[in-house]
Amino acid sequence: MIRLGVMAKINLKVNGSPHTVEVDPSTPLLYVLRNDLDLHGPKFGCGLGQCGACTVIINGTAVRSCVTPTSSVKSEITTLEGLAHNGQLHPLQQAWIDEQVPQCGFCQNGQIMTAKAMLDKNPHPTDAQIREGMNGTLCRCMSYNRIQSAIKKASSKTAGKVAA
Ligand code: FES
Ligand code: FES
Repeated sequence: MIRLGVMAKINLKVNGSPHTVEVDPSTPLLYVLRNDLDLHGPKFGCGLGQCGACTVIINGTAVRSCVTPTSSVKSEITTLEGLAHNGQLHPLQQAWIDEQVPQCGFCQNGQIMTAKAMLDKNPHPTDAQIREGMNGTLCRCMSYNRIQSAIKKASSKTAGKVAA
């Protein structure tokens, strides 16, 4: 990868762990997560903020890391790798397996992370709220019905905030 400009040391907290990276401050967060921190949950899809494959959660919000300059991140980042705890899958991950959601799988990081940010704010969304919350997170394999089912399943198993 080509990186131009003045390098700077940037401190990040990712999935509970502190990291210092030395990069051009404008480097997209996605590149730092994948190339510097070896976190390959977030995917490079469009690189333009339009597909959602690169989604991570920052400050409770689903963020498209391909268009997020690394130097702009001031809060802890959660990636797909940070969802399971003590060998226990997050309810969304388990529901994804139960419902056999993925086809090629490429978009699924974005689907799960977007769903998590949504359920953290609204643990029991209606079908319409799920469709609205997931709108714009694209799946070229058209797994949308299974995504919807898995989110319903995960939300039915949680009585309140879905823990990270
Ligand atoms: S890769 Fe970031 S939105 Fe498509
Ligand atoms: S499962 Fe293939 S793009 Fe969504």
